[in-house]
Formats: sequence, structure tokens, C-alpha cells
Amino acid sequence: MSDRYAVIGHPIAHSRSPAIHAAFARQTGQDIEYGRLLAPLDGFKAAVARFQAEGGNGLNVTLPFKLEAWQLADHLSERARAAGVANTLRFEGPRIAADNTDGIGLVTDMQGRLGQTIDGASVLLLGAGGAAQGVILPLLQAGVAHIEVVNRTADRAQRLASLFEAQAGGRIHAAGLPVTSGRFDLLINATSAGLDQTQQLPVAPAVLAGARLAIDMVYAARPTAFMRAAREAGCAQVSDGLGMLVEQAAESFFIWRGVRPETHAVYETIRAELNALA
Ligand code: ATR
Repeated sequence: MSDRYAVIGHPIAHSRSPAIHAAFARQTGQDIEYGRLLAPLDGFKAAVARFQAEGGNGLNVTLPFKLEAWQLADHLSERARAAGVANTLRFEGPRIAADNTDGIGLVTDMQGRLGQTIDGASVLLLGAGGAAQGVILPLLQAGVAHIEVVNRTADRAQRLASLFEAQAGGRIHAAGLPVTSGRFDLLINATSAGLDQTQQLPVAPAVLAGARLAIDMVYAARPTAFMRAAREAGCAQVSDGLGMLVEQAAESFFIWRGVRPETHAVYETIRAELNALA
């Protein structure tokens, strides 16, 4: 029988993870099944227990269960502990090991497909929720010179920055919105405003224009409002989060299977599918 994996969330029908992992499995010759698991909003723990009892080997976790996954784990990787939320579970007998591959997925996409140098870069990180928290340790480990965490609720940005004081060694600061000035190499939108095409984040055009890259963590058939604003301001490169999605999946696949899939063709296939919808 094949080893079994799934992505668990609510809703889950839209998830592209099954297609991505099926492509990775074909490419690497790994014998796995990867499905979708819809858990009731109040039934995450029971759904995980059932999947585990039925012989499941691991789960990807998506909204709104990433915090519950983190709380459920018997063991947290260093990056999961720092992220405060988990997106990858691995069952080791009755034990559950949790990791977070979202942040490293973003870093890998920026350094690889997008050709960006992160070492020495100055980063503006918009948002202070779980998505923002997940990317901070991987950015610090990739050698960023400075991270400015900005959030609509400034207190929350402050709290998030203070969580990383020890690892950051003075490289992280917090502020509220709007962002009226400053020079940043990389702009990362980790707010959930990304999917709403009408919500403009208050970041001055000069700040957008001065960056090497503006990247949104969400992806959609059409550019997000943040991407459009950055492009209109003259930012050198803009991207959505599709590459991050594929790279976080590759890292999860590696955790489970010990094999690192090639991501380029999978990214191109999904991009083409999205373009057909636009
Ligand atoms: P996630 O797990 O996706 O990070 P979250 O914890 O709910 O989700 O965090 C959402 C983030 O998006 C927060 O930083 C939120 O700002 P606040 O902390 O001030 O609520 C931000 N956000 C959501 N909608 C926004 C908007 N319209 N403008 C600016 N920031 C927004």
C-alpha cells in the first residue's frame, strides 16, 4: 500500500497541494497517495487522529488550523517554534512532529526563481499575523541586514518584533502603517489584505519604486492590489505567492520523503492553469 498524505483545512476544495504533490511523486518515483481532508471548524484534532489511526503518514495544514496544528504537536522544529504556527505534520508512530515550511518556501522562491540576493538585504515586512511570523526566522537565517515589521495595529508589530530580539541581534524593528518613507530592497506583503482586489495598503509610491522586489504571499489568477500598486510605482520586480506555495510543498515533500523535487515545471504548469482562468 502507498504511504498516505493529505492537506487538511476548511475550506479545502480549492487546494492545489494534491496536484503539486502528485507531480512531485511522479517526478521522483515516490509511491504516495495525497488527498484533501475537510475538517469541521471544531473538529481538527479528531480529524487528524482519525487520519493517523487509519495509517496516514503526514499532513499539510492550511487555514484556519495552522495554530491548532502547532498546539497539537509533540515535537516542534526550530522554525515551527519560531513561526508559532505549523503547516506540516509528520507522524512518527503515535507522535506528531510539526514543521513550518512556508517561510523557507518564500526565501527559496526569492533566491531561486526570482534571482534575489537576501544576504545583506533590507526588508519591509507588511503584516504581523502568522504569515509574517513564519518568514522572520528564515529571513534572519538567510542573512538579511534589517527587517522592518509594519502593521495596521502597531502594537502587534512591536510584539512580533520583540519575539525575535535574541535571534535578530538588533536587525528587527517595528512600526505602524502608513509607510511614508524609507529604502528597502525587498517588500513582502504578509497581510491578509492581499486577496481583496480593492484594499490598498498605505505604502508610499517612492518606497514601492525603490525596492528590487515586491512580493505578495497570496496568489491569484490576476495580480493583487499590492502587486499592481508596486508595478505602477515602478518597482523593478513584482510577484505573487505561487512560487512560495510550490516551494513550501517541496520542503514538506523533502521532510516526508527525504527527496527534494525539482519545482520549476510544477510552477509553470500551475501558472499556466491560473493564466487560463484570468
Ligand atoms: P495570517 O495568519 O494570514 O497572518 P492573521 O493572523 O489574521 O492572518 O493576520 C492578518 C494580518 O493582515 C494582520 O497583520 C492584519 O493587520 P492587523 O493586525 O492590524 O489586524 C493584516 N490585515 C488584514 N486586513 C488588512 C487591511 N485591510 N489593511 C492592513 N492590514 C490588514
